[in-house]
Amino acid sequence: MTIPDGEGRVSRVNGPLVEVTGLSGVAISELVELGANRIPAEVVAITGDHSSLQAYEYTGGLGPGASARRLGHPLAALLGPWLLGGVFDGLLRPLSGGPTWLAGGGQQVTSDRVWAWQPLTKPGDPVSPGLSLGVIDVPGAVDYRVVVPAGASGLIDDVRPAGPVRADDALARVGDVDITMAVRWPIRVGRPFTERLRADQPLVTGQRVLDMLFPLARGGTAAVPGGFGTGKTLLLQQVAKWCDADVIIYIGCGERGNEMADVLDEFSQLTDPRTNGRLADRTVIIANTSNMPMMAREASVYSGITVAEHFRDMGYHTVVIADSTSRWAEALREFASRSGAMPAEEGYPATLASSLAAFYERAGVVTTLGGLLGSVTVIGAVSPPGGDMTEPVATLTQRFVRSLWSLDHDLAYARHYPAVSWSGSFSRDAADMAAWYARQGDTEWTQRRTRLEAVLAEDDRLSAFADLVGANSLPDRERIALLAGRLVREGILQQTALVANDAYCTAAKAGALADAFLDVIACCLDLVDNGLAAADVEAFDFSLLLRASREIPPDDVQQIEERCRVVIGGLRALLRPAPLEQP
Ligand SMILES: Nc1ncnc2c1ncn2[C@@H]1O[C@H](COP(=O)(O)OP(=O)(O)O)[C@@H](O)[C@H]1O
Ligand SMILES: [Mg+2]
Repeated sequence: MTIPDGEGRVSRVNGPLVEVTGLSGVAISELVELGANRIPAEVVAITGDHSSLQAYEYTGGLGPGASARRLGHPLAALLGPWLLGGVFDGLLRPLSGGPTWLAGGGQQVTSDRVWAWQPLTKPGDPVSPGLSLGVIDVPGAVDYRVVVPAGASGLIDDVRPAGPVRADDALARVGDVDITMAVRWPIRVGRPFTERLRADQPLVTGQRVLDMLFPLARGGTAAVPGGFGTGKTLLLQQVAKWCDADVIIYIGCGERGNEMADVLDEFSQLTDPRTNGRLADRTVIIANTSNMPMMAREASVYSGITVAEHFRDMGYHTVVIADSTSRWAEALREFASRSGAMPAEEGYPATLASSLAAFYERAGVVTTLGGLLGSVTVIGAVSPPGGDMTEPVATLTQRFVRSLWSLDHDLAYARHYPAVSWSGSFSRDAADMAAWYARQGDTEWTQRRTRLEAVLAEDDRLSAFADLVGANSLPDRERIALLAGRLVREGILQQTALVANDAYCTAAKAGALADAFLDVIACCLDLVDNGLAAADVEAFDFSLLLRASREIPPDDVQQIEERCRVVIGGLRALLRPAPLEQP
């Protein structure tokens, strides 16, 4: 039997690791199709005539002698308007309910789906890379902009008139390049931009503990480490639902299938606070649950970032959420152990650090080729086995991210949600965010943050002490410091995802709540300084203010101020002597 040019033969199959001989001229990262089922696989090592491949689907049924056909290009994502509202696998192939085209493997776009095209340019217009030629009509708040690709510039030769078009129809012709709505892009290569900018604006998440204590910049990076059941998935879902980004890419990576089903279900029912349409219309979901082929997980995070960059290049703010990067790293480890690579720490490949970096480094705020402002923010969950934060994925991730939101098992156990630890978390962008808030007129932001941190630190210090000697034997001022800690924890940091008024908190409401509690705490200290017993202050009923975050709508700052006045009035009344009894 003769082997056609560019074809090889499978010589060995070991799970997702497939050895092939005879792929002449093949290069690292090239995509190859294996066997009659055309399983996509990527070349990861070459020795002479012999190549090692990482297969992206189950290799069951594949054996020595099966064909291996070079495709001549790397693993690439097919990007287009169908992504919005869709559900895809790690190679960005639709999973269900999506269009019927196929991506990857060099196949043609087979969709018969028709889209409405609206040109914004005409023949003879001068264009350069990144400029918008027109839009494809999609539901929801985001316009799908068809932009001039890198490398095409000059005068527009031809523009298709407004009307129905298909994914691979030429919408315009610039120089010798036909421009379509569909764009194919190698997932491991960052898309080009003009300039990287300083990430100096917050991505407001609507979660008080994050926005006030550990802010994340638009174009920044954050990781959410935490043991099983500490609330990582719920927190990430909250951020996905409420953060002020234009497009959300949610990558379910190696977690259980029923959790992913819950995510899909939730998203399909949510309304977009901006448009009152479906939130799903500006969400892209990539699902690679634990029951799906392992190595597609490896690709899924890069596919997700590529989707984000594609929308960034249209001038949007995007957020990539990966749950969980630990499950993703397990795929790397499994493959490395099969290929006999020299394991580094805990069996992970020595390339773990660079793989993680390659993911987080693609975040950023940029000026696009077309001169627009766009960003990619990356947030990854880290779920170390046994909650061990000293294992390689957790420790490396802390090096690469700007914000760390550590979830604490004890807080989760005490039902303090979100269980973000104030002592174990950080934000390297806090100073820049403070400057931004100040420019927006909120000059109090830093001061508030400093005061809240001080209350929490003092509470932590004294709690340890109080556990030893008993809280009642502490001096009055220290007892008030413990009370202050409890008020801040219960009234500000705790935020339930399950109550509509509290699920999302505006910056204004968060600021008003913090100010109210800080005023109340100052009042309590003042009272004990003026001779009131700490026990009397502790016995006071603060519930009017403690319930405020749940009972008061997100935009009603006045009601919070009103409740603060009532509470302070009640506290001050403790000092006044009781009226004399009437005879
Ligand atoms: N913000 C929250 N509000 C209310 N309940 C929460 C919150 N965060 C977590 N929980 C509770 O904790 C449980 C486990 O959370 P989950 O996100 O699945 O944990 P993980 O992903 O870390 O394993 C949830 O089912 C829910 O009951
Ligand atoms: Mg989870």
